[in-house]
Amino acid sequence: MNKDIKIAIIGLGYVGLPLARLFATKFSVIGFDINKPRVAELMSGIDSTLEVEKELLQSSLVDNPSGEVGLYCSTDLKDIKDCNYYIITVPTPVDKNNRPDLTPLYKSSETVGKVLKIGDIVIYESTVYPGVTEDECVPVLEKVSGLKFNQDFFAGYSPERINPGDKEHTVDKILKVTAGSTPEIGKKVDDLYKAVITAGTHLAPTIKVAEAAKVIENSQRDINIAFVNELAKIFNMLDIDTNDVLEAAGTKWNFLPFKPGLVGGHCIGVDPYYLAQKAQEVGYHPEIILAGRRMNDSMGQYVASEVVKLMLQHDIKVKGANVLILGITFKENCPDVRNTKVVDVIKNLKEYGVNITIYDPLANPSEVKHEYGLETTRDLPKQKFDSIVLAVAHKEFLDLEFNELKSQKSVVYDVKGVLGDKCDKKL
Ligand SMILES: NC(=O)c1ccc[n+]([C@@H]2O[C@H](COP(=O)([O-])OP(=O)(O)OC[C@H]3O[C@@H](n4cnc5c(N)ncnc54)[C@H](O)[C@@H]3O)[C@@H](O)[C@H]2O)c1
Repeated sequence: MNKDIKIAIIGLGYVGLPLARLFATKFSVIGFDINKPRVAELMSGIDSTLEVEKELLQSSLVDNPSGEVGLYCSTDLKDIKDCNYYIITVPTPVDKNNRPDLTPLYKSSETVGKVLKIGDIVIYESTVYPGVTEDECVPVLEKVSGLKFNQDFFAGYSPERINPGDKEHTVDKILKVTAGSTPEIGKKVDDLYKAVITAGTHLAPTIKVAEAAKVIENSQRDINIAFVNELAKIFNMLDIDTNDVLEAAGTKWNFLPFKPGLVGGHCIGVDPYYLAQKAQEVGYHPEIILAGRRMNDSMGQYVASEVVKLMLQHDIKVKGANVLILGITFKENCPDVRNTKVVDVIKNLKEYGVNITIYDPLANPSEVKHEYGLETTRDLPKQKFDSIVLAVAHKEFLDLEFNELKSQKSVVYDVKGVLGDKCDKKL
């Protein structure tokens, strides 16, 4: 089977690269991306997303696209023209009005359409609402290739469930949902993934079922976090420690262990809008899904106001105070700064007239500057601060000597509830 299969992975980001590396243990894989610097860094054995370790990446690379088992990365369309499986892992963002932006999916479908041949299978992995693969992407493939869907070429969908920064639940160890555009193709898609996913697969009956399954996984998480964020607001007003309440309630077998916090990144905070958009298209106004989004999007402002209250309670002059923000990435132990909600905390704190210093050993300062116009440092600042906000639970922050960073009256606010008695207040 391996000899007859040649896989192209389109989009080599957080999802595409680990998948390409995994398939490359058994198949000939061409990783294709439009981002030239990204392809160059990967071919030199470096992954700046930190998802694939240097030795692992280097040992998977081959130096030409001719078809031997291994990974070759390219920006050149001709290198993917003799592949027979095309797996699309491009971003699915929202626009400024939180509407799904399918541009990367349309563009990558055009790319694949140009090299599509009889018998090829195009599998989408990007998170979408039900119907995007067959109603939005397949027509592009048909138009550009001139081939007929489910006669000349076929489609599949297999949503990705990885959790960036998580070295335990890697792509091979997460059960994978698969689907195909016909029952026979479903079986073929399932067999392809079964060859490398040690955790096994679940073949869904249709592509729309598989698409819906992924988008509700993330929407469910968003809603559950929104619920505990609401609890945090209530318990703060009642002067009860939310984490203590959650710990006590968590002793019941069916209580779900969610923690309050900022919901950023381009999955949990974005995917519910995809589902909401589709629901609205068919005439249903989603209440719970959008209420969850509103609650979670309000948390940056809430954290800032809590920090200011805490400073006032400790007689710290807010205007002109020096505040240290620990972490700006959207989650712990990961360099991804896309859609990070720490910037909401910073923006709201700045409105109170404080001076902000951001320390994040993982975030790339030029990326943060480019995305948000903010200065960050990867080196621990030497000065003293009037207030310290732990916004992201990077492991580097857990053993910090807070006393060396605190001025005389300084306070520490812990968004993630990981500092124990080193903090004055937590979310
Ligand atoms: N990051 C996650 O945690 C995660 C988890 C599960 C699912 N997903 C979903 O997977 C998809 C990809 O996410 P990601 O985090 O890997 O994104 P990413 O931004 O890290 O990577 C996407 C890559 O696609 C490339 N690209 C964009 N347009 C292209 C085109 N037309 N042709 C070729 N390459 C193109 C980009 O240059 C980039 O390297 C999204 O739909 C996302 O929702 C992400």
